[in-house]
Amino acid sequence: MPRSSAAAPSALALTLTLALTACGGSGVHGTPGASGVRDPYFPKAGNGGYDVTHYALTLAYDPESEKLTGKAEITARATQDLSAFDLDLKGLDVGGVTVEGRGARWNRSGQELTVRPHDDLDKGETFRTTVRYSGKPVTITDADGSQEGWLRTADGAVGLGEPTGSMTWFPGNHHPSDKATYDITVTVPKGLTAVSNGEPTGESTKKGHATFSWHTAQPMASYVATVAIGTYKVSRSVTKDGVPVYVAVDPTQAKASAKVLAKIPEIMAWEKLNFGPYPFTSTGAIIGGPDDAGYALETQNRPFFPGATDTGTLVHELAHQWYGDSVTPKSWRDMWLNEGFATYAEWLWQEDHGGDSADEIFNSLYKGDYYDDAKDNEAIWAFPPGKPDSAAHISDPPVYDRGAMVLHKIRETVGDDTFYDIIQGWAAAHRRGNADTDDFTAYVEKKAPGKDFTEIWDDWLYGDGKPDRP
Ligand code: TRP
Ligand code: ZN
Repeated sequence: MPRSSAAAPSALALTLTLALTACGGSGVHGTPGASGVRDPYFPKAGNGGYDVTHYALTLAYDPESEKLTGKAEITARATQDLSAFDLDLKGLDVGGVTVEGRGARWNRSGQELTVRPHDDLDKGETFRTTVRYSGKPVTITDADGSQEGWLRTADGAVGLGEPTGSMTWFPGNHHPSDKATYDITVTVPKGLTAVSNGEPTGESTKKGHATFSWHTAQPMASYVATVAIGTYKVSRSVTKDGVPVYVAVDPTQAKASAKVLAKIPEIMAWEKLNFGPYPFTSTGAIIGGPDDAGYALETQNRPFFPGATDTGTLVHELAHQWYGDSVTPKSWRDMWLNEGFATYAEWLWQEDHGGDSADEIFNSLYKGDYYDDAKDNEAIWAFPPGKPDSAAHISDPPVYDRGAMVLHKIRETVGDDTFYDIIQGWAAAHRRGNADTDDFTAYVEKKAPGKDFTEIWDDWLYGDGKPDRP
């Protein structure tokens, strides 16, 4: 038949129509989601093509064998037609993956677990992925030498995930830009307790095991998700305005931490006054053993502390609930939005409680006599807070101290009334969401029309070296 025959195009059209129709529920029409979200510091973190809305994690951990058994049920919405998508998972053995209840093909390469669903997923479709996995979770040593991920402790373990460690204990979209709600259930040997984020929803025991369930109803970034397993005494109280306080304490730290933990309601009240309404439905703290981790972390609802802490650190970690956990950075470049704010919260607390004023702290840092060690005073100027020089340095002094100095410069420029409007308004504008540094500078400029922030942005936020003038 000659090519110009009328039959040929109509046959082609028919084939196309059939192919398109088939895509309504199944068939091949999608493309693979990206293996990362182009974070400038952690390019492989997170994945493209979908947004997680909920994680249901059912975990069992045996401290003796160090073995974790898990089932992760991940509810997500496709943001493109998908033939495949990645989850981030480091270590552990995958037993099987289903998508929408049907067995899915999967393979692993580095931290990428690539899932090929039986049927392609349509853009806009909500789908559920179930991953069964087990093994000894790994501990990650970051470029800065700090340890994160799954940390084994004297009688249990704790999951701490800043910046990327949560992929050592559950598969997911491990980037701060994709927040989700969580249900976390943990079974441990009887006698041990499992504490997590959100509020407890159940507790049961069966044949030598105890199971603890926790529900997080407000969106949470995976790096502030936690489970702490060990000998913990959990106590519940409420703040004056009715926010439940769950505090879990390693009994060896009970005496040393009692006084500072009793300040939680007072700190919460002061932070609400300064930062605005509390974004979550419960608060508290987890006090582990002194060797459990090398740092405290702002795990959502209840920050984790390695041993009894001090008031400043508690103020810092609770301030992160507003700045970091509720208003979460869009990328790891925006880390100063977490640490600059939490550090400035410490300065404000001091100022309001008979200590040095924020201005005195600023001047002492600028002069270089704040720390005992000259090297520590110098370290503040290593790079600008708005652009850390590498992934190894996102938790370094320029992000904390010089980040706080940026906020102090803004306060100096706009005055106290507008400054408090700005920090409260910022927390309100991006409550339970994500924001980046450009969002912040634009917000400040909008709130203080007519003020000139050029020098603050150019020299303090983005400039190399120590600014000429304090
Ligand atoms: N983000 C934590 C805080 O400021 C501290 C922290 C977590 C940290 N991981 C780290 C500090 C790694 C240095 C290195 O509360
Ligand atoms: Zn911090």
